[in-house]
Amino acid sequence: MTSFSPAPQRPIGVFDSGMGGLSVLGELRRALPHQDFVYLADTAHVPYGSRTEAEVRTLTTACTDWLRQQGCAGAVIACNTASAFSLDFLRARYGHTFPIVGLVPALKPAVAATQSGTVAVLATPVTLRGALLEEVIQQFAVPAGVRVLRLSHPDLVPLVEVGEADSPRMRAALREALAPAAAAEADQLVLGCTHFPFLASSIRAEFGNTFALLDSGAAVARRTVQVLGSVVSDVSGEVRYFATGNPAEVASVMAALLGHTVKVEHAELNQLIQESVAR
Ligand code: DGL
Repeated sequence: MTSFSPAPQRPIGVFDSGMGGLSVLGELRRALPHQDFVYLADTAHVPYGSRTEAEVRTLTTACTDWLRQQGCAGAVIACNTASAFSLDFLRARYGHTFPIVGLVPALKPAVAATQSGTVAVLATPVTLRGALLEEVIQQFAVPAGVRVLRLSHPDLVPLVEVGEADSPRMRAALREALAPAAAAEADQLVLGCTHFPFLASSIRAEFGNTFALLDSGAAVARRTVQVLGSVVSDVSGEVRYFATGNPAEVASVMAALLGHTVKVEHAELNQLIQESVAR
């Protein structure tokens, strides 16, 4: 009798500029509990949200190339900022050989749910300027006559990166960022950056139930199941975590956000970044 060992499972790559993609990874693991993942946090270059479009494209290309080199079956761009300017570009670059799933701000469900006729999108400046947000506004909000407020605050992502998802500084930044949404009677708040689901309890503490909070994590997980399928196995899938910055610092912030300790390895992207700039 011939005995088979199953073909080794190829992990799915997931990346973000830092910790934000962990909110997406949680949804991916719920949807694909037996799948292995490789998570890459490009913490040496966070935040992406205040960079130029060209820089974001160079960095996301290097992250995607790196995940491919690790033997991943495809990649999830768990970052609205990276998706805003790089999704079409990366898909064209890899074609069908390496499927890429990206994120779009959850404007469609916000437009469907609003009673006040005003919704707010909280995102990074790059995402607010990007074509993806404009497309969903034109597709869903404009035909429904719904007003969309675009909001941003420079402190939110850096504070999550140092483990301050709830702190006096974070609360002050959120009050400043979201005051215009409350004043305009927005009743839906689209969390258009993957770092922001970690702020849900701080937002609730400051604004109560003024806004329903919407993010794209579950939708991305559904799309990933369609595109990359699921692995049939009885064993729980595993995650390897990598960071381009200091792994020990990243591990301690990740542990605070995830509620359990993780081992973080170093990822070296400099060569790939240089190659990406040279192209
Ligand atoms: N987590 C990222 C996003 O979804 C970006 C944060 C940043 O690097 O500015 O937009």
